[in-house]
Amino acid sequence: MTGRAARKVNCLARWSAPVDTREASVRQTGRAIENNVMTYLDSILEERLTEFSSKKRKLTVLTGAGLSAASGIPTFRDKDGFWTVGSVNYMPEEMGTYEMFLQKPLEVWKWFLYRNTICLKALPNIGHFAITELEKIFEDRFRLITQNVDGLHFKAGTSQEKSYLIHGTLEKSRCGHECSSELYPFPDIRFEKGQDLTNAQIERLRCPKCGYYLRPHVLWFDERYNEKYYKLDSSLRVAKETGLLLIVGTSGATTLPQKIVESVLSKQGIIIDINPSENYFSAIARKKKNGYVLTGRSNDILPEFVEVFNKSSTLTL
Ligand code: APR
Repeated sequence: MTGRAARKVNCLARWSAPVDTREASVRQTGRAIENNVMTYLDSILEERLTEFSSKKRKLTVLTGAGLSAASGIPTFRDKDGFWTVGSVNYMPEEMGTYEMFLQKPLEVWKWFLYRNTICLKALPNIGHFAITELEKIFEDRFRLITQNVDGLHFKAGTSQEKSYLIHGTLEKSRCGHECSSELYPFPDIRFEKGQDLTNAQIERLRCPKCGYYLRPHVLWFDERYNEKYYKLDSSLRVAKETGLLLIVGTSGATTLPQKIVESVLSKQGIIIDINPSENYFSAIARKKKNGYVLTGRSNDILPEFVEVFNKSSTLTL
């Protein structure tokens, strides 16, 4: 079954148990779960993973909003997604443009302050911690490329040195007129939908150098990837060195992740898509001999990779 769908699990309901229960059950029943078609990694895939671990190429994890769904942060394009629901007054994706920022900086700020307030309340889930464990196992062979701006990877202990934040971060801001490329902390203003900004809060949104408005240090739809802010070249370099790419919780709607996957495949790397729904990357993986599709939630699936690599005696560092 080329482009193997390792397992289509049709009893996800049972998996909606709280994360802790899930983790416990894996340890308890281990392989036995296989008969109920509950585990995700079949023996064929495990063999390839063990083979990969004996090589020297990089393990790279490419993450999207789906990874943080179990932490209570809406994704972008799912039914309750940020781009689906959007802001009170404007079309969703308008809020993610430099053009809108120049026209209505305070409306854009209200929206990003509201999003950041959700992120600040969120805690990393077992999916984030599993990725941190993979970093500990693979050490310098590990890299993380994330589209997420929520900061949960670092809260889960993944290192900044081996991480590429290709869409920026809601932990930083910079001058909206680029009077300098200095990064400032993101204004710590807790903000709920429908609220209004006070004059004192508006003053905290100004660039300390030129007085114009700061902007969130995130990549907007009408902007281009670059190395200075979004690690464009570095992440493409990592793709070339990648032997195994875990694609976690992304719909594949943005271009750099698409290029990264293309590059990994062009170097005969393995790609594994982890997502409860079909998406741009699962469609590609199904067509490739080095492609695997694990249909399920990242918080359910990623711990199994930790188990496989933890017991893999062939790991080469
Ligand atoms: N585990 C794994 N995947 C999940 C889960 C889960 N628990 N829940 C949802 N998903 C999947 C969805 O099926 C969907 O394919 O996560 C994906 C989220 O897709 P998007 O909402 O499009 O988010 P993302 O792919 O990260 O968006 C990419 O687009 O809007 C811009 O800058 C924004 O970084 C973002 C980029």
